[in-house]
Amino acid sequence: MQSLTTLGLKLPSDPRWVNIAEMNLADILIDHAFCEQKAASSCISLIVRYPDKEKLVETLTPVVAEEWGHFQRVLKEMRKRGIKLTHKRKDEYVEKLQNCLQKTGDYKVRLMEQLLLCALIEARSAERFKLLSENIADESLKKFYHELMISEAGHYRNFIELAEEYTPKEMVRKRWLEFLEQEAEIMKNLEVRKDRFH
Ligand SMILES: [Fe+2]
Ligand SMILES: [Fe+2]
Repeated sequence: MQSLTTLGLKLPSDPRWVNIAEMNLADILIDHAFCEQKAASSCISLIVRYPDKEKLVETLTPVVAEEWGHFQRVLKEMRKRGIKLTHKRKDEYVEKLQNCLQKTGDYKVRLMEQLLLCALIEARSAERFKLLSENIADESLKKFYHELMISEAGHYRNFIELAEEYTPKEMVRKRWLEFLEQEAEIMKNLEVRKDRFH
């Protein structure tokens, strides 16, 4: 399976997070549902914004379906437990990452930034699903999170490959390493909250 190293992440999640998450499953499932919804809509907006990028459209179209499938499955897990989707919460982790994006008029760079941002979120999500699948007691959720870990790790690779398709590899590599440092810094300073997936 994906180790932290293959995912590239510089800082492991706070070990307290998984216990806090398990004690607050309802909140975590709700937040997770919104993360899946957002993952699907980010892919749709990339497809809408870059219709001329054949590989991007081809790669991300099935990812939209997968993310939407994840959303449906989280809803099902919620229904089983009598949990309802409430209003959307502020996603501090993603907002902080978005603030790291280079502001540039160069559309090629903007595309690379967007793709690497998605890759980072996928990598961190895969790491969190791994933690949940290894530590949570509920057997059906354990299995579900294990499947999600594999799926999100695959998406992480999809986004890196797409970035390399449209930008020189050395440029992607350099920016990716920088991004990983920025992400680690964000994670280090992010409060571990009982109602957030990230
Ligand atoms: Fe997903
Ligand atoms: Fe994903």
